[in-house]
Amino acid sequence: MSRFLSGRISRMSPYIPGEQPRGGQYIKLNTNELPFPPSPKAIEAINREVLRDMRLYPDPEVSVLIKAAADFYGVAPSMVYAGNGSDEVLAFAFMAFLERRRLFAPDISYGFYPVYARLFDADYQEMPLREDLSLSVDDYMKVHGNIVIANPNAPTGLAVPVEDIEKLAAARQDRLVIIDEAYGDFWGQSCVPLTEKYDNLLVVQTLSKSRALAGMRVGLAVGSPALIEDLNRVKFSFHPYNINRLSLIAAAEALEDRKYFEKTTAKIISLREGLKSALRERGFSLTDSQSNFVFAKSCKTGGGELYLKLKEKRVLVRRFDLPRIRDYLRITVGSEGEIAALLSALDELRA
Ligand SMILES: Cc1ncc(COP(=O)(O)O)c(C=O)c1O
Repeated sequence: MSRFLSGRISRMSPYIPGEQPRGGQYIKLNTNELPFPPSPKAIEAINREVLRDMRLYPDPEVSVLIKAAADFYGVAPSMVYAGNGSDEVLAFAFMAFLERRRLFAPDISYGFYPVYARLFDADYQEMPLREDLSLSVDDYMKVHGNIVIANPNAPTGLAVPVEDIEKLAAARQDRLVIIDEAYGDFWGQSCVPLTEKYDNLLVVQTLSKSRALAGMRVGLAVGSPALIEDLNRVKFSFHPYNINRLSLIAAAEALEDRKYFEKTTAKIISLREGLKSALRERGFSLTDSQSNFVFAKSCKTGGGELYLKLKEKRVLVRRFDLPRIRDYLRITVGSEGEIAALLSALDELRA
């Protein structure tokens, strides 16, 4: 740490991302990427674009992408915002709406929320999940303040019914409800349609998971035109060219290629359900994850030990050393071959 670092940043604990090992030495089931490539149309578009106009800045209005997203969601383009990954979308939302304001979030959820809260000076309040790690909307009905919920939640994978989220938005017009649907496509339900009705609801999505574009860094937000205008105010005060030329067209093509999206998403859901059953047969307890990962606890081996043993066998999963969930592993739904390798590693370990 240099002597120049400002006090607020020096007191922060930065987010620690999942390991990104170089080379292919691991079966990588730790950061919820898709085991399939992105839409071939996205890849073709990237190849085309690489040969053109790289000396020019990208479109700061990201019009092609906004139009593709608006068409996909069936909303007006003025209700869509695009950012450099949903992490940046969330960061800009925290910056725009939450400074010195109270924000409630589940005690077990996406690790970036408390980090952004500190960075952008929000008053962050954790709301405990129930004993079974599910979320009770009633807890949030009682409190005054803004709300951020990942739905389905991470790392539990559990989803809150859309009707319950609607109750939260409807109960108090003076609070902002941010719903992070990074994994929503693997659940098949979304709060996006509610954004037409509630101007205090902001839904955030990503192309990193269901569109297999984690490396391109594209996230989206859908909300009232006023909320979207506010996010653009932050963007144009910070980094107007936040989405590069390749990401822009790759994301637009991926959103347009509905057939590929539906096929790959359905495949992941079916693999997830198969993986859940296979783990249950081996004595694991699991949440009923609606995401592209499962959240599972061995009845024989502690989480820390199992994480390391799997790593020795070149299978990389994610573990959070936190109260209540330290014995769980979050395991990305990989390809059939990757799932088979995981299960045979578990069998060899007698986990
Ligand atoms: C709940 C949740 N929200 C947001 C993100 C950020 O995704 P990205 O920045 O790749 O869009 C993640 C990434 O793992 C996540 O798990």
